[in-house]
Amino acid sequence: MLNGVTADLLVLPELFSTGYAFTSADEVGKMAETDHGPTAGFLKELSKSTGSTIVGGFIEIEAGKIYNSSLIVSVNNVIDTYRKIHLFNKEKLWFAPGDKKLNVYEINGVKIGVMICFDWIFPEVCRTLALRGMQVLAHPSNLVMPYCQTAMVTRCLENKVFAVTANRIGNEQRGEDDFTFTGASQITGIDGAVLSAAPVGKPHVSVVEIDENLADNKMINKYNDVISDRQTSFYET
Ligand code: ACM
Repeated sequence: MLNGVTADLLVLPELFSTGYAFTSADEVGKMAETDHGPTAGFLKELSKSTGSTIVGGFIEIEAGKIYNSSLIVSVNNVIDTYRKIHLFNKEKLWFAPGDKKLNVYEINGVKIGVMICFDWIFPEVCRTLALRGMQVLAHPSNLVMPYCQTAMVTRCLENKVFAVTANRIGNEQRGEDDFTFTGASQITGIDGAVLSAAPVGKPHVSVVEIDENLADNKMINKYNDVISDRQTSFYET
């Protein structure tokens, strides 16, 4: 229950527990946690009290490597972490690129996939998750470019999946960096319809009811299926 609202899936922004702008690898290292650290503990408690599955970003450390990750937590249990594959800008100085496969998690009968922020610009991520059966994409973000929300319309339409892009608002100035986040978190439907659009600069919680099973039908008309109509022999990898 969040201010009287319940949800089966709750998506929080990228790096929600630390902020996004860092001044040194040392600083990032000091905020890194394992998947059973304080942020995991907080989300486990929240999942227990709300009954929600929760996806939210944190700095993960494992075997001496530091990742820009998201926890996937359900009913007081850490199911997995997703480690961002496509690092943006100075993230390359702080984080190792993700080294886990793109997984789809069946949780309470819903097939959930995860990507983080800049992963959106690589259509292969959403496509791979869709090919693996994803119905709903959880997309923690700290967007600073103005293109993603519009692009998610296409990502959802071309894969016929739902997506929840949870974005940061406001500004962070640290060291040489001055980031203004684009807000406008968005829930997008399988036909590219924007089901919920948050304001650009104000905190926002929005709940949308969907039928996730609609994402299993890849037909866009009587004759075209966006997955099985692909002509893969013409494509480069
Ligand atoms: C981003 O990937 N946080 C822009």
